[in-house]
Amino acid sequence: MMQAVFAGKKIVVGVTGSIAAFKVAGWVSDLAKEEADVSVIMTQSGMEFVTPLTFAALSGRKVHSEMFGTEIDDPMAHINLGREADLILVAPASANTLAKLANGLADNLLCTTVLASRAQVLICPAMNSRMYSHPATKENIKRLKSLGYTVINPAIGLMACKEEGEGRLAEWDDVKEYVARALSVNDLRGTNVMISAGPTREPLDPARYLSNRSSGKMGYALARAAFRRGAHVTLVSGPTTLPCPVGVDRLQVQTADEMYNAVISHAAKNSIIIKAAAVADYKPAKNHEHKVKKDQIKSHLELEPNKDILLALGKMKKPGQILVGFAAESQNLRDEGVKKLKKKNLDIIAVNDISTKNTGFEVENNQVLLINKSGEEQLPFTSKLHTANLIWNDIVRLIPT
Ligand code: CTP
Repeated sequence: MMQAVFAGKKIVVGVTGSIAAFKVAGWVSDLAKEEADVSVIMTQSGMEFVTPLTFAALSGRKVHSEMFGTEIDDPMAHINLGREADLILVAPASANTLAKLANGLADNLLCTTVLASRAQVLICPAMNSRMYSHPATKENIKRLKSLGYTVINPAIGLMACKEEGEGRLAEWDDVKEYVARALSVNDLRGTNVMISAGPTREPLDPARYLSNRSSGKMGYALARAAFRRGAHVTLVSGPTTLPCPVGVDRLQVQTADEMYNAVISHAAKNSIIIKAAAVADYKPAKNHEHKVKKDQIKSHLELEPNKDILLALGKMKKPGQILVGFAAESQNLRDEGVKKLKKKNLDIIAVNDISTKNTGFEVENNQVLLINKSGEEQLPFTSKLHTANLIWNDIVRLIPT
């Protein structure tokens, strides 16, 4: 899956003066394995930490560092590298390089290449946490973002200087996802999307709750796919064990009421909303403050209905807003789907067949019947990530131009 994204893509990696430069050697190695065409530019300070030979060996190419090369094959490296690049990845980006790029300085090959390029630029700062939190650095990062560069937040942790804080180079798994996004078709670029995922938990007392078998995998796959396609993604998630997908803003909730509040308060600013969550239709009428002793539990549990979040979204839908619902059905898939599409004022409904062991709740794969106002499409039995992308293909067709 990843390989197709990177293969043959021209990526310029700019290595600057930070102890984290050695980590980026591993990144270059991985990109080369993914068959990307990697050219490394090193600043003078970068070369104090790792030798150009390391990057040359890992990328399989000459490393560039001189602005005014006299070599016949490289008289205008800054123009050629920048012009041909699909992506420029500046990592690690020192405080000094951030300041230069924020101000459009062009006193070394890396900064000149960035200025001379119109490719997407990803910047991964890495520095001591005091330098990172200094207002000057913060200002520079703000400016870099306003210039259209993507700045990937550093991680928090123990650094080479033995201080703990924010400033550690971001992890490659995360950065790789941003690289993949930059190299993918971004048909959701600039779009705010909200996805709800997972089950809800409806408490009976501090020890017990009512819930369902949803794992959240389908909603998380939709969030991951949307980020890859360029969207800004808000994921409202019920309790799951899944890690937050890279680049996604996750709001964690427990109950249907909490999900209702989170979803409704963010609805207006999202042009696409997908409700993949399995919201509990009912909650215990009373949430006891203390654990109910077993001899006090009655044979009937009194329930009261939760608000239907999707129905509410359908009622408040703004012109042009796209609303997608899910339905978990074990029979009459088409009829049930059409009924809910109309009743909840949806643009698309994805009907999950939960009658087989291999699809629906908790498993890796799915088979979905997609119904919209003008027809239906039976998606193949496939992974939830692939299903997510097929659903997005359908949604993208409905985006008003
Ligand atoms: N849903 C919701 N709020 C609820 C219940 C459901 O937003 N309180 C949403 C789900 O996220 C899903 C869709 O409604 O997108 C369909 O849920 P489903 O439980 O299948 O439909 P219901 O309308 O509850 O009908 P029934 O259970 O009778 O099939």
